[in-house]
Amino acid sequence: MTGRSINLFSDTQTRPTEAMRAAMAAAEVGDEQRKADPTVNRLQDRMAELLGKERALFFPTGTMCNLVAIGAHTRHGDSIVLEHSGHVLRSETSGAAAVNGCVIETIRGERGAFTPDQLAQVLTPGNQYVPPTRLVCLEQTHNFAGGTVWPLEQYRAVAALARQQGVAVHTDGARLMNAVVASGVPAADWAAPVDTIWVDFTKGLGAPTGAVLAGPGDVMEQAWLLKHRFGGAMRQAGIVAAGCLHALDHHIDRLADDHANAARLAEGLTGIGLEVTAPETNLVYVDPRPVGLDAASFAAAMGEHGVEISTIGDRNRLCTHLDVSEADVDEAVAVAARVVDAAAG
Ligand SMILES: Cc1ncc(COP(=O)(O)O)c(C=O)c1O
Repeated sequence: MTGRSINLFSDTQTRPTEAMRAAMAAAEVGDEQRKADPTVNRLQDRMAELLGKERALFFPTGTMCNLVAIGAHTRHGDSIVLEHSGHVLRSETSGAAAVNGCVIETIRGERGAFTPDQLAQVLTPGNQYVPPTRLVCLEQTHNFAGGTVWPLEQYRAVAALARQQGVAVHTDGARLMNAVVASGVPAADWAAPVDTIWVDFTKGLGAPTGAVLAGPGDVMEQAWLLKHRFGGAMRQAGIVAAGCLHALDHHIDRLADDHANAARLAEGLTGIGLEVTAPETNLVYVDPRPVGLDAASFAAAMGEHGVEISTIGDRNRLCTHLDVSEADVDEAVAVAARVVDAAAG
């Protein structure tokens, strides 16, 4: 143990900065459930503008944004399309099936993105035997594919094909702002081709709670009803919305530092023999088997030396964020080198 822990486990584990805490403490509040919290209303207006959508709604979590958006676009028994390692399918306890009653059709993508041809093969208007496709869900950046960014033209072409066939498109933008910073494509350009889209404030943006879903007025009206039904209509939520507003003002441009740190981390880990998938944003996936360790043992050994990383299937995920400095990255690589040396015996 180095005495200090370095948290590469997830960008969800950031702690609010002193400045963010001060903004939250000073927040003007009201009854959010009655649409009377001025800070929540301000955040919603800002996000509607940033994403170029008619209306935006504040939610406690991104998982609830996905659940509500899928519910707003579909009816029980409908089919939705997801990339096969999409978060909605792999990490949201089957909400789309259990709560929204949807059949999930998957497409095996390349680095989280699929092509219009692949989509054309699964879209169906439905018939006596099969349910109609009502919704295509995209993920930007794609978490389990490696924090990858959809190429803009491919994203537009996939969304256009769905919409030509009367199928709605929803983007899980848990890390949309990472995609914005990495690609230089504004958030509104990622939002324009799709019907609904949301942004999480609890990932790289560093707020303690909150996500905002945006879309057309009629869909968002339904989303408001579902948010309430699922228990997501809050009271003095301005306290947490103020953290999100602070993140919008102070934590977007700095995501470039997280991406640079991820690239530095990838380079260091490659140098000691791990198989590293080149990061596009702030997520670094590694396979430690080439150095004779399985993912669980590698994570455990790193943890014993004070570096927390996660295990996802056969691989480890290391995540950079605002509580991880360049020096932390160098120290994590040095620890990994000691772990690899020890494994080599
Ligand atoms: C791609 C993606 N979608 C959705 C979520 C869920 O967000 P939340 O933790 O705010 O519910 C996550 C969280 O890790 C995610 O990575």
